[in-house]
Amino acid sequence: MPKTTTITKSALLVIAIAGSGFAIAHGGATGIVKERMDDMSAMGKAMKTIVKQLKNKTSMDAGAVIQSSQLIVKHSSMIPQMFPQGTHGKPSEALPAIWTNWNDFTAAADKTKDEANKLQQLMTSEASRPQLMKQFATLGKTCKGCHTDFRAAKE
Ligand code: HEC
Repeated sequence: MPKTTTITKSALLVIAIAGSGFAIAHGGATGIVKERMDDMSAMGKAMKTIVKQLKNKTSMDAGAVIQSSQLIVKHSSMIPQMFPQGTHGKPSEALPAIWTNWNDFTAAADKTKDEANKLQQLMTSEASRPQLMKQFATLGKTCKGCHTDFRAAKE
């Protein structure tokens, strides 16, 4: 099934990108900046849990996929309130563009929420593994899309 393999690969790439910056331990952030970094990291972990299950050929823990999707729904719906005006600058990687393009930023958060919701629904309705993998990749792209526009690039 070459198609599945391609989807898996792109999903893994998305994960690698979404999860990068993981080990950087927030650079001493405090307050709401630290809180949102923790939330983002939790979403990164949830993505890892999901892909681990989707790749598990013998037994897939549907509950873990559903729970992780729910966590992403919850945290992504909180994104707008986690970015008060002007909370950029070190150690934050948030770009000032967030506040000059606020509608695009919140739309990006909505997209992540919607796609995580869809993944949860697919899992609940026992969709096939390729369908789930495809939705996972779509979800991952929403993370990456927002990071490309609104998060400082890593060296
Ligand atoms: C609406 C925009 C947006 C969406 C959607 C988004 N992120 Fe983020 N993410 C950011 C911004 C901005 C930062 C930088 C925050 C800071 O440093 O203050 C960030 C930081 C991160 C970090 C680094 C946290 C740290 O410790 O510094 C991880 C990991 C991360 N995001 C994962 C994800 C994952 C996984 C998803 C999708 C499920 C996602 N993000 C969706 C905007 C977004």
